[in-house]
Amino acid sequence: MNNPWQYDETIQVGTDYRDEDEVRAYDRRMQTLRDVGGEVKDIQRALLLSSDSTVWEIGTGTGECALALAPAVRHVYASDVSPAMLEYARRKAEQRGVSSVTFEKGGFLSGFRPGHAVDGIITQLALHHLPDFWKSRAFDVMTGSLRPGGRLYLRDVVFPSTTDDYDAFFKTVVDGVRSQAGDEMAQRTTQHIKTEFSTLDWILEGMMTRSGLGIVEKSSTGFVSVYVCERIAKRGNGRNGGMRDRGIG
Ligand SMILES: C[S@@+](CC[C@H](N)C(=O)[O-])C[C@H]1O[C@@H](n2cnc3c(N)ncnc32)[C@H](O)[C@@H]1O
Repeated sequence: MNNPWQYDETIQVGTDYRDEDEVRAYDRRMQTLRDVGGEVKDIQRALLLSSDSTVWEIGTGTGECALALAPAVRHVYASDVSPAMLEYARRKAEQRGVSSVTFEKGGFLSGFRPGHAVDGIITQLALHHLPDFWKSRAFDVMTGSLRPGGRLYLRDVVFPSTTDDYDAFFKTVVDGVRSQAGDEMAQRTTQHIKTEFSTLDWILEGMMTRSGLGIVEKSSTGFVSVYVCERIAKRGNGRNGGMRDRGIG
């Protein structure tokens, strides 16, 4: 049973992906803006995946990445908190005849968990839905679900700490989105900055390392970053985990 203080991750921030019209519109936008084939190639490389690998995608959305990855691995568990997203993704899997992806209801903090440690975890453009404390809980869940040496591929909006003038930085990003993808995406980007929970790189990186993930690679374009992390021994979180690791407490 959930504790009374448990964050309710089924309530969406920003765009409401429980709405079927939003789901259809999201899928259409992503079909034109994303290179899913390229993303999947990069994921396969970064997570060292083989035909024997088992992968968990969290916040799968309309399932494009999970379905494109399926032929290259043994099994993909793909979870999301939005029933409308899951329904849409399941229909796509059926239409494409893909049976090695199972779509499951659950998020970073609750619901579905794979019954065994997985080789890789993928999460793209979803973690920023959680406020920072709950992101740190999500990293603990992800680290605990990876086999030792297993890898996490995280793509999300992350604010760089090397910027002195955030207003100038955000203006450059929004103008860049407008010139590449039009007014609607620029408006969505502005709303993202204003209402969603994207955070600073040093905060996110601190959470990763404290939950027992080593950062293997990082790359950034605009304010979207990709992190590739590997599960290492838990180092402790600076509150009490550190003492536990040293055999104290
Ligand atoms: C912007 S979409 C990204 C979908 C997909 N990963 C992609 O790259 O196209 C964000 C997705 O995260 C899901 N989501 C929101 N909060 C979540 C949570 N706490 N756990 C898992 N998924 C969540 C939403 O329902 C939505 O499907």
